[in-house]
Amino acid sequence: MAIERTLSIIKPDAVKKNVIGQIYSRFENARLKIIAARMVCLSCADAEKFYLLHKDQPFFRDLVKFMASDPVMVQVLEGERAVSKNRELMGATDPKKAEKGTIRADFAVSIDCNAIHGSDSLKTAAVEIAFFFPQIDVYSQSVVASGNI
Ligand code: CMP
Repeated sequence: MAIERTLSIIKPDAVKKNVIGQIYSRFENARLKIIAARMVCLSCADAEKFYLLHKDQPFFRDLVKFMASDPVMVQVLEGERAVSKNRELMGATDPKKAEKGTIRADFAVSIDCNAIHGSDSLKTAAVEIAFFFPQIDVYSQSVVASGNI
């Protein structure tokens, strides 16, 4: 199975709750390796750029304001099926609909403050990883060799 890389952001609400370590343990227990990480204070301009895809959504302004309100912890996760595995660990976008035991069910309070972001596809992961970590290889060799991109 191809080794993938995906981008994960622990959002301001979860950073403030002091649960970075607990969330990292979940990645590690699921055999996802943290191969790069940095704590970042996003400006509104950074957040707007990162979430450009959502610019026409009614929640866009609140999302940008929230993401720039406090530090976030950003990491690249690597492992088998990293994109989908990470999304399973996160749970549904709305924590009220997230399955028990998922990160959002356990640490998030609302769809606006939902603890964590994760890339939704390999293609998005490539763009999002390059946004925060332009210096690292976006694709692992096996992903490139599989012709998935
Ligand atoms: P995230 O996975 O970071 O991607 C976009 C974010 O917009 C999402 O998590 C939510 O925090 C936020 N958001 C707010 N309202 C909605 C909504 N109705 N649907 C999807 N995302 C929403």
